[in-house]
Amino acid sequence: MEKIAFITGINGQDGSYLAELLLSKDYTVVGLIRRTVTSNIHKLENLQSIIDNPRLILEEGDVCDFSSIFNIIKRYRPIEVYNLAAQSHVGTSFKSPSATLEINSTGCLNILECIRNIDNKIRFYQASTSEMFGDNIICPQNENSDFSPVSPYACAKLASHYLVKTYRKSYDMHTSSGILFNHESPRRGERFVTRKITKAAARIKKGLQSELRLGNLEAQRDWGYAGDYVKAMWLMLQQDQADDYVIATGKTHSVQQFLEYVFDYAGLSVEDHVIIDPKFYRPCEVPKLWGSYDKAKRILNWEPDVSFKELAIMMYESDYEREN
Ligand code: NAP
Ligand code: GDD
Repeated sequence: MEKIAFITGINGQDGSYLAELLLSKDYTVVGLIRRTVTSNIHKLENLQSIIDNPRLILEEGDVCDFSSIFNIIKRYRPIEVYNLAAQSHVGTSFKSPSATLEINSTGCLNILECIRNIDNKIRFYQASTSEMFGDNIICPQNENSDFSPVSPYACAKLASHYLVKTYRKSYDMHTSSGILFNHESPRRGERFVTRKITKAAARIKKGLQSELRLGNLEAQRDWGYAGDYVKAMWLMLQQDQADDYVIATGKTHSVQQFLEYVFDYAGLSVEDHVIIDPKFYRPCEVPKLWGSYDKAKRILNWEPDVSFKELAIMMYESDYEREN
């Protein structure tokens, strides 16, 4: 029988890795793409490795548009739906709170309602986030830690997180949330701090720019590799029981440490090139994220492969190759 999966946010960092993983497991993958009036070729950059695969189907739509999602699910009847679409930048959520709420909460609700109405046996994955722990710094955070969101992004994601639980309990649906801690890769958006740093380091090294402006360097994050994390998403939907899982590396580092490690590796001095710019501070900050993935290890048999240092080097080397 043909296995069909539907991925929203397929053109994002995680969507592209998940699509690769599912295609390698013989799924047909239907991906949701937002069309724009300008050329979208650059927007498909993350999908270059699989764009010619005949089992990859791209459909136009928007998670905020109920009928576009309803029609795609009705037409393809996927066995699994992965909702990765989001306004995913925390800083931007303070500038565009309404749009963030609409995409990150109503978008998820739209998909849950489509599944409930079309076939409530379709399995559903929601991209929840460690950002929901907010200013609760009792670490390491796990599935039982208190949520204390401090951004419009996290508030919207928390609403979806509880919607997923509610639909699981109320309608006996197979709905799971992955509470994923920060994960990065060479495909990471350029406005997230790790990629901003690796790209700038590569450009400074090649003489293409001289300074890098950053905000709060003290924040701590549990950074893993996106390629490892999408495996956990798939594993969640292969379980008999739907549930929520923390996915993390179990280690935390500050932005300063990431910066120093990359600059050291590149043979650059932080003092010579980095400027602290208040523009990049947020109205409220999540000070420390450090996750425990014990439950995922026990039930999903999942563990991260790529270390903090390997990740930083992978991203720097990729940016060094790309910049010219
Ligand atoms: P990303 O690179 O920003 O990708 C998000 C994707 O969502 C983009 O391709 C974007 O499309 C799409 N999208 C945005 N609004 C949409 C809408 N209204 N309808 C349809 N598609 C829409 O994010 P990511 O890093 O891959 O993360 C994937 C998911 O995991 C997100 O939900 C994020 O919030 C969550 N998450 C990420 C992390 C992390 O560290 N990466 C951690 C925890 C949770 P365009 O290409 O058109 O902009
Ligand atoms: N983006 C950015 N740009 N962040 C900066 C900068 C800068 O110039 N300077 C310092 N930072 C700090 C931020 O204030 C934050 O504390 C930290 O670097 C990480 O910022 P991001 O890389 O933007 O990630 P995030 O932790 O806010 O959010 C990411 O991880 C979440 C999971 O915890 C995103 O991927 C979210 O979508 C995800 O849910």
